[in-house]
Amino acid sequence: MSFAVAGDAYDRFMGRYSRELAPKVIEFAGIESGMRVVDIGCGPGALTDELDSLVGRESVSAADPSEPFVAACAERLPGADVRRAEAEALPWEDGRFDAALAQLVVNFMQDPLAGVGEMRRVVRSGGVVAGCTWDYSDGMQLLRAFWDAAAALDPDAPDEGRTMRYRSAEELDELWRRVGLDEVATAPLVVKTTYAGFDELWQPLTLGVGPAGAYCSGLEPKRQEALRDELLVRLRSPEGPFTLSAKAWAVRGIR
Ligand SMILES: C[S@@+](CC[C@H](N)C(=O)[O-])C[C@H]1O[C@@H](n2cnc3c(N)ncnc32)[C@H](O)[C@@H]1O
Repeated sequence: MSFAVAGDAYDRFMGRYSRELAPKVIEFAGIESGMRVVDIGCGPGALTDELDSLVGRESVSAADPSEPFVAACAERLPGADVRRAEAEALPWEDGRFDAALAQLVVNFMQDPLAGVGEMRRVVRSGGVVAGCTWDYSDGMQLLRAFWDAAAALDPDAPDEGRTMRYRSAEELDELWRRVGLDEVATAPLVVKTTYAGFDELWQPLTLGVGPAGAYCSGLEPKRQEALRDELLVRLRSPEGPFTLSAKAWAVRGIR
């Protein structure tokens, strides 16, 4: 899996969903003007940008281990406190923030218990820690159709609906409680995106972004073409614009 790709490639593949998801995550987490917030695993900054609009640049911080993503986020929000760091070792002191958010990140952490534990550490007592992950098994139409198409051609394809952790409300609830957060609550968040045509969906899949992109870009040309054809059929061969929806599970808790 790779996030060592250009921010633009990410935005065309997944960022278009992240932008829609960000206001819903912010509302679910109860973020308000005047709060100091940190975006963990910020990527090129879809959520950071939305937080910036709400709380102001001096009150928003962000971290991600991917060098190109940190650069893209810093360029998007000049002057913001954007750092290259993993969730498991955050470079801020205890209790620095009112809230720590991680949008579509917990399932990618090496050690989610440590990563969410660090998010808890950097928020003050009474502060909120929130995150969300796609429902990879059902409800994230792009990835579901992609992995179903891949499995039809290759039974060993690493379907994220099987391999991803923290893709259900129950798993997230349990993780948040194990980290020692209180008043834990979960909810589904659903977003939509409209593609101008099939190529707008397919092209970014060939750029190596995330597990699906890494799988797709690693195929030899003939197998990649077969996958393209299979995916096209599974999406009902759209000839013009079409809309897909995506469901994430969100979780929040109080320190
Ligand atoms: C699916 S992207 C989500 C990016 C962004 N939050 C968004 O909503 O678009 C997953 C992000 O998690 C980051 N990531 C991977 N491992 C991480 C870790 N251990 N700690 C923090 N972030 C991590 C990746 O670099 C990538 O930017």
